[in-house]
Amino acid sequence: MAKPDLNIIVCVDPQRCLTLKYQGRNSGALLQEIQDQVRDQGLSERVQATPCRCIFGCTYGPRIDVINRVTGEKVLYGSVEAPVIISVRGRVDMKKIPDHLIELAQANLS
Ligand code: FES
Repeated sequence: MAKPDLNIIVCVDPQRCLTLKYQGRNSGALLQEIQDQVRDQGLSERVQATPCRCIFGCTYGPRIDVINRVTGEKVLYGSVEAPVIISVRGRVDMKKIPDHLIELAQANLS
């Protein structure tokens, strides 16, 4: 299988993100929902959603990064929509996790 255009990585680190809830779901549930929606929308060839450990910005978790392999752009998602300072990366523009999780894919595909 060819590499997907978009990688959605969801932090399921038990140190923090897995214990945080966003709209009633922890990061494990968010990951499952994203994977289901990607499959249901027929985007499995272009979009991959996988679990990961800490990607920094835990304070704003659950944290999700979306990486476009075509453009090289990385978009950071969390519980706030604001410029924030996170360890290792410094100042970044954090986007709020969308109500409809499939928008993580739709908004970032080229
Ligand atoms: S534990 Fe999830 S970003 Fe740090």
